[in-house]
Amino acid sequence: MIFFDIALVVLVLLASISIVWTTLSAGMSPMPSSKKARDAMIQLLESAGEGSGVETGAWPVVDLGSGWGSLIIRLAIKYPKRQIVGYELSFLPWLVTLIIRKLLGLKNLTVYRQDFLKADLSASSLMVCYLFPAGMAALETKLTTEETTGRYLISNNFALPTLTAEKSIHLNDFYRSPVFRYRLG
Ligand SMILES: C[S@@+](CC[C@H](N)C(=O)[O-])C[C@H]1O[C@@H](n2cnc3c(N)ncnc32)[C@H](O)[C@@H]1O
Repeated sequence: MIFFDIALVVLVLLASISIVWTTLSAGMSPMPSSKKARDAMIQLLESAGEGSGVETGAWPVVDLGSGWGSLIIRLAIKYPKRQIVGYELSFLPWLVTLIIRKLLGLKNLTVYRQDFLKADLSASSLMVCYLFPAGMAALETKLTTEETTGRYLISNNFALPTLTAEKSIHLNDFYRSPVFRYRLG
């Protein structure tokens, strides 16, 4: 019995160290978007391209920093015909997402344990994120070096440093937190 207790303590310790380590190196914890923010992101996602004649309804959705998967799992369930992709650096949140994907049989969900700043995002037309100011600056630098015409980025709470959002929603919360949508290119 004592062996299992020790094994459990070691496992919890390793998991905590892993999360703290990636939080420090990525600059952000895997904290999920709130339900209100998720709903606003989905609203902006569904209306992307509206009135422009561009049919975005079948575009894959890419979450840049998918954390524990709380957003991408919901999206994969809500849009079974759409490809949903997540990039996540942190091992444990990535693993948990992978296990839930398997348990729920979400074949339209792919999650990479990879730095999205080093990934080829050129085919990612509809991106979502919940990062932090330095992460948004790094993302803007990456996106300005790629062909981004007609692509969209939806960001929970944090703005891109120089680009102007085409639409934003202010949540009905204490801070009136913003969710931005950018039309890139
Ligand atoms: C606040 S969580 C957001 C989770 C999810 N997108 C949501 O909205 O619920 C941000 C995640 O981004 C990850 N992250 C930060 N920079 C990253 C990078 N360059 N590549 C991959 N993941 C990154 C962090 O590890 C963290 O788990």
